[in-house]
Amino acid sequence: MAKREKPKAELPDKIPQHIAIIMDGNGRWAQARGLPRLAGHRAGTENLRRIIEACVEFGVKYLTIYAFSTENWGRPEDEVSGLMGIFDEVFERELAELHKQGARLQHIGRLDEVRPSLQEKVRNGMETTKNNDRLVLNVAFNYGGRDEIVQAIRAIMSEGTKPEDVDEEVVSQHLYTAGIPDPDLVIRTSGEQRISNFLIWQAAYAEWVFPQTFWPDFGRDELLAAIQEFGRRERRYGLVLEN
Ligand code: IPE
Ligand code: IPE
Ligand code: MG
Repeated sequence: MAKREKPKAELPDKIPQHIAIIMDGNGRWAQARGLPRLAGHRAGTENLRRIIEACVEFGVKYLTIYAFSTENWGRPEDEVSGLMGIFDEVFERELAELHKQGARLQHIGRLDEVRPSLQEKVRNGMETTKNNDRLVLNVAFNYGGRDEIVQAIRAIMSEGTKPEDVDEEVVSQHLYTAGIPDPDLVIRTSGEQRISNFLIWQAAYAEWVFPQTFWPDFGRDELLAAIQEFGRRERRYGLVLEN
């Protein structure tokens, strides 16, 4: 990894341990250039590499990225199949780089519903990187927050847990993100300001930022700006803080 001049000096004292990103705006990025939407998705996946590198540089421990939602299956068929083709390539092509960065790949969502060749690549990526500990990269792929909660309820009920024994901890432990701390900072690029079924349980007390930039153009310096903004926020968790 290329080392930059004193990145730490630009970082606030308080760094988000877990950053989650809704990588939005690929289609509009392409449209603005007169390109097909898939060209935007391709550029978006290429951008991922520099953001992962920047997270490692800044000492972020967990990065969760929203790659494909349970609702995205409803897009035109050629876009969906094009996206699956891109994911197929990316999981294979980026694995070596991810491994080199010391990142551990994890998946959140319904892997069983994606085509077997892709399932295989994701599983292989998780297996290859399982001992890495510099960064955990959670890929939310065929992920929906409501679906996740439904699956958790099913699992809790099928284990025969008594209603009075169900608490927030039990629910958290049955989500796809079990064992991963809640996100501190959620970034949604492209100027849209909504949750779109992303980490609806886990982001209950996250800080949110909404940069205008379309995802393919969202680079290291903008990530740094989001982290600096996070550093200026005061997290209250419903309490009154003493001065
Ligand atoms: C986000 O970009 C990527 C996916 C949802 C897969 P979009 O495709 O939503 O881009 P816009 O919002 O149409 O610009
Ligand atoms: C959310 O973006 C999903 C991903 C980024 C993968 P969308 O573009 O699908 O969300 P909406 O439709 O604008 O809410
Ligand atoms: Mg979008």
